[in-house]
Amino acid sequence: MLQLGQECFPEDEQQTIEELVKIFEFLMRDYQFSPTPRTQHPKSHGYVQGEFIIEENMSDQFKVGIFANPQTYPVWVRFSNGSGSFDKNGNFQPDTLGDIRGISIKLLGVKGCKAFENSAPNEQDFIAVNTPIFFLKDAKAYLDFFPIVNGIKEGKITMNPDGTPNHIPDELKASYEAIAYSLPLLNGVRSQVMSSPLEANYWSATPYKFGETAMKYAVFPHIEGKKFNIDAAEDKTNYLREAMTKHLAEKDAYFDFCIQLQTDPENMKIEDPTLLWDEKESPFIKVATLKIIQQNFNSQERIEMDEKQSFSPWNCLEEYRPLGGVNRARKIYADMADFRNQINNA
Ligand code: HEM
Repeated sequence: MLQLGQECFPEDEQQTIEELVKIFEFLMRDYQFSPTPRTQHPKSHGYVQGEFIIEENMSDQFKVGIFANPQTYPVWVRFSNGSGSFDKNGNFQPDTLGDIRGISIKLLGVKGCKAFENSAPNEQDFIAVNTPIFFLKDAKAYLDFFPIVNGIKEGKITMNPDGTPNHIPDELKASYEAIAYSLPLLNGVRSQVMSSPLEANYWSATPYKFGETAMKYAVFPHIEGKKFNIDAAEDKTNYLREAMTKHLAEKDAYFDFCIQLQTDPENMKIEDPTLLWDEKESPFIKVATLKIIQQNFNSQERIEMDEKQSFSPWNCLEEYRPLGGVNRARKIYADMADFRNQINNA
């Protein structure tokens, strides 16, 4: 019988993670332009300042770690596109193409015991994407995913209009079979249209420890008035930055930061983030407000800070230790950021 928050560890996990590091380092060495970007979520729509305001009067079960006391923390927040596709000049794919979109939130001045020796001191990061589930079940699936994406890009794998495969070369058949489930999940997220990064819902997708149990978290926007009109954008290729720029030139933006507790270890899986945790079983409850303050964030200095910054699910208190195989593989974020900064400073 599984316990709340219980993890299961495959034997070859460390080897999988080492292989992933090799792939990401290869990708970073291979970029022909400067600065070398993040291999995942390289395109930023804005790196902005704000506040994380803990709710007052919460029920006791949510008073874990920073949520135990009403307090306001300064934050840096980065909004991004997931795709690493770029043209020969290093321009990432236009925002008009479907993609996974991310939000990375870094709370500063957080005191407490860290989950990992490589965690940044006094920082608590929360990282989320615009889908409640991740499209891969575990870290190993990432290793099969890379050759399939490349196979599709290079035309070695051809697909039918209904999304079923038309031709797969023999050497890619095993990898395709292993991750076939992930392609409709990925296409589902990519088919969503986002009006503005400040008008989207984001979810952690993967679980985290939360005191004696586990949680997933989500970030939901306050939407007042009309959403950003994509058709009226001056620069459609980069309309997500434009939407943020126009919004924050005029006013602050707000999000609710919410937590969903794991209440059933069998039906709310730790080791498979492709499965939703049922909100009827356990709803998302607001525990903080994320306020992005009115600002101009397009200076060269801010863009350089964004490029150098490192967010990681492992920049966290022990109370919110990342759980599950996908999150364990994400211990590599700090090393990947160091590697990219080394290349850029060389
Ligand atoms: C095995 C699974 C995963 C691997 C190997 C992986 C790998 C990476 C890497 C290498 C980076 C760039 C780090 C840097 O250079 O600073 C990154 C960034 C990112 N990842 Fe993942 N990732 C995984 C799963 C996830 C999941 C489940 C989410 C869902 C929340 C996610 C969301 C993001 C976001 C939003 C960023 C951008 C962070 C930033 O703004 O700096 N990733 N990922």
